Formats: sequence, C-alpha cells, structure tokens
Amino acid sequence: VRVLVIGSGGREHAFCIALKRDPAVSEIHAAPGNAGTARLAVNHAVDLADPASVAHLAAQLEADLVIVGPEVPLVLGAADAVRAKGIACFGPSAQAAQIEGSKSFAKDVMAAAGVRTARSETVDSTASLDAALDRFGPIWVVKDDRLAAGKGVVVTEDRAQARAHAVELLERGHPVLLESYLDGPEVSLFCLVNGDQVTPLQPAQDFKRAYSGDMGPNTGGMGAYTPLPWLSQQIVDDIVDEIVRPVAVELLRRGCPYSGLLYAGLAIGREGPAVVEFNCRFGDPETQPVLALLRTPFGQLLRSVADGTFQETAELEWEPGYAVGVVLAAEHYPAKPHLGDTITGALAEGLVLAGVDEQDGALVSAGGRVLTAVGVGQDLVAARAQAYERMGEVHLAGGHFREDIALAAAQGHITIPAQR
Ligand code: GLY
Repeated sequence: VRVLVIGSGGREHAFCIALKRDPAVSEIHAAPGNAGTARLAVNHAVDLADPASVAHLAAQLEADLVIVGPEVPLVLGAADAVRAKGIACFGPSAQAAQIEGSKSFAKDVMAAAGVRTARSETVDSTASLDAALDRFGPIWVVKDDRLAAGKGVVVTEDRAQARAHAVELLERGHPVLLESYLDGPEVSLFCLVNGDQVTPLQPAQDFKRAYSGDMGPNTGGMGAYTPLPWLSQQIVDDIVDEIVRPVAVELLRRGCPYSGLLYAGLAIGREGPAVVEFNCRFGDPETQPVLALLRTPFGQLLRSVADGTFQETAELEWEPGYAVGVVLAAEHYPAKPHLGDTITGALAEGLVLAGVDEQDGALVSAGGRVLTAVGVGQDLVAARAQAYERMGEVHLAGGHFREDIALAAAQGHITIPAQR
C-alpha cells in the first residue's frame, strides 16, 4: 500500500512512525511534511489550501490511500477532491468537517442529537455583545466560530478580557460563540467513524495552557497522556453511546455521513460527560502518545475506514502501560513564536518532530510547537520519567515546555465529580 500523508505537524510525523510499523505499507509520502517525516517518507510540496493540489499529488503518486491530518484542507474539501479521483481517503467530506469548521453547525447537530454540551449563543455584532455577556460568566468562554488553530478560545474570569477578545474577533468579521463554562477534568476521545460505525481509541488528556500549573494563554496543546487511570471503561462506553454515535447518526440522517476520525473533546462534570468541542481529525499532541501504544497496523486500519469496510466490531490492540507526550515550544509561543533557531539532539527515539525544518544539514525551528518528547512505561510515573529524560537531550534557545504533563494523574490527584 502506497500512502500519502497530508500535513506538516507532529501528528503527521507520528502517522509516519506508525505507518512504518505496518507490514502492508510499502511506501510513505508526506506533503508538505517536515524534517521528521523526511526521515521516513518522501516529502512533496503541496498547497494545503487548495484541494485540487492535494488530489493532483495523490494521483501523480498513484497513492492507494491518502490520510489528511489537519482540519484546514478537510474543511476546504481535500477528501472530496481525492475521492473524486477514485483514490481512498481517510478524512471526512467538507460538509461533514463542518462539525469542526463551524461551531454553530456543531451546536445544531448536537442539539438535534440530544447531546449534552455547553449552553451557547452566537454573537455577530458589537451592538448585541454586552447584553449577551451579561447572560454568561463569571467564567466567560469566548470562541471564534471559525477555525483558529486552537488559539481562538479565551477562558477568563475577567469580563473586560472576554469582551476585548470578542470585539477583536468581530472586528475581523468572525462571528463569536459565547459558552457557559464546563467544569470537570477534560478528555479527548478519538473515534474511528464510518457512517454509524464508531470505535474509540484509548482516551487521552491534553494540556491547553502554555505554562505549568495551567497558567498562561491557551495553545494548540502543550502535552498529553494516555490512557486515563481515573476514567472508567463505563464512562468511555457512555461517551460513545450517548454522544459520539448519536452525532454520527445525525450526520448520516442529514445526508453527510462521517468517515474518518471524529475527536470528541469533553469535560466530565457532575451531570456526566459534556462536549467542549468536536474536531474532524486526530488531535495534536494527543496523537503522539496514543499512536505510541497502538499495536493494530495503522495503515490497514485507516484504509478500512477510507474504503468504507470498517466495522465497529474490529478489536483494536494496544501495548500495555501508558504513554506521555511533552511538547517543546519555541520562545514566545503562542503569542509570537521565534523561528529559525538551531535545534540539537532532536533526532532520537521518542522525539516526534513538528515545526522543524532542515537547513544546510542543521535542524531549525519552523513552528510554534517544535516537537513532542514521548515516553512509555508500565505506569504514568515511568512514562513521564522517560518523556522528560528524552526532552532533556534536546536543546533549543528560548524553548520551553511544561513540567507538569500527567503529573496530577500520576499522583492520583484527578477525580471526577460524583455523578448525579
Ligand atoms: N489538542 C487539541 C487539538 O488538536 O485540537
């Protein structure tokens, strides 16, 4: 099987690492890829904002399977364009990808499917903003209705800060979504979905704030671990049965069946799990630790979803134990990441590259999130130790990472509120 991976982040390097382990995969191509994928695949140029460019490359390479990593090409229709060439593609249609591309669409689908989520209002003018802000808070959640690479969200107790963010979005012509704050520990549950067939991968938890102790601004994600010792299989089953499957069935009913990876971001509160967001793709950096433990051949698994033969009765196989991923971010990430700095020690086992380019034989930072150090072990203490040991070998001037990824879970300090 000849596979083409679309994207250039840590998620896509993790895809290539997993594909390399699959005996059915004969060739891996990546576009645009990064310095990590270049070591496992042939990198090609592509315009991620142009579905025709993605489809053209897939046809030129005679790919048997295209895996689209990021949300932007999916929302723009890359999967549709690839399938129109008769090539199997892992990833939802543009219409189904609206579950991430438009938060209002997602809210509408969830309401129709009877899924618990935050109360919300869409605001499209500053004239109606103040009255709307009065109906929320004292913790305000202000989101960009459109795609914002994880940076469109402000969660704050400060009404003035919430208002300023909303005004900035409105001035750029983006509708704003105000939401009630959902309490409880967060879970990322990735589900393979083929129409009404839904199979969850092992649950993970992401760390969205930039600095240790959950301080600082929201980011695309600063680390993750899997599985979650504090989350029972029963709750995972309930999330699938009461949230993900009803959404998949509702999309099918609307004539836009989902095919690909549906990412449910949830908060586990007293009322039970509630949806924070849906994404139309694998999450980054959760993918790095999740795929580190997946034993099922990755290319064959994704191909079965892409060609529509995937059944939820398929049993996934996992390595025992835990995996922890810690993200190394560039100086001044997320506000204004400083790029072009030399990185050393980054080509070692367990290091999954993201914003890394190669220039004259040296690795240099080329994105806000530079790499993820992944450690595995029989428990979270051991997996953390390996991840931080691997991170210790990497050097990047001004680079920063969180010291507390998976720490509370390793200490047994995460509990879910008593369910009502
Ligand atoms: N880890 C968050 C995301 O991928 O959106």
